[in-house]
Amino acid sequence: MPACAGEIPLAMNPEPQVVEVSLQSDLKSVEAAEELAEDVCTKAGFDDEDLHKIGMAVHESVINAIWHGNKNDASKRVWLRFQIHPDRVEIHIRDQGSGFEPGRIPDPLESENLLKSSGRGIFLIRSFVDEFRVENLKGLGTEVILVKRRNSKEKKEA
Ligand SMILES: Nc1ncnc2c1ncn2[C@@H]1O[C@H](COP(=O)(O)OP(=O)(O)O)[C@@H](O)[C@H]1O
Ligand SMILES: [Mg+2]
Repeated sequence: MPACAGEIPLAMNPEPQVVEVSLQSDLKSVEAAEELAEDVCTKAGFDDEDLHKIGMAVHESVINAIWHGNKNDASKRVWLRFQIHPDRVEIHIRDQGSGFEPGRIPDPLESENLLKSSGRGIFLIRSFVDEFRVENLKGLGTEVILVKRRNSKEKKEA
């Protein structure tokens, strides 16, 4: 019987295990992506608190990919890839948009932004994961990369 993702001893496997799906630019994909993230990361051994954070970070990232990246264009897709390493999971969310610079996004904690109902997604994502990166793929779209470590800094500090 072939081993499923959760059965392979990660420490003995130098290559990350990869789960990849292609999603339609449709809001139903957001829920599917969140469920898949929780499922993959449950099998990878993350605890409930981390699963919740990973699920929310994927939820916000996929909404952004559909809405801001693909501009709700039904002919465009979002690719979601999980790379499971012994010490971390890396989650790649790729869209077919023209990208953005996260350093230029307004700070939602600035007083003039506090009452705005939008502009908090990336702030939340950053607080839920250990690394947040954006790669502009020069004509091929944009990839947001989230890294969640098994023993996050926040837990060590707690
Ligand atoms: N995948 C993406 N492609 C292009 N722009 C993006 C993407 N994700 C985020 N952005 C930009 O970053 C801004 C902040 O995103 P976010 O914090 O999620 O707030 P909101 O989605 O409510 O605007 C967006 O308004 C958009 O300009
Ligand atoms: Mg958003």
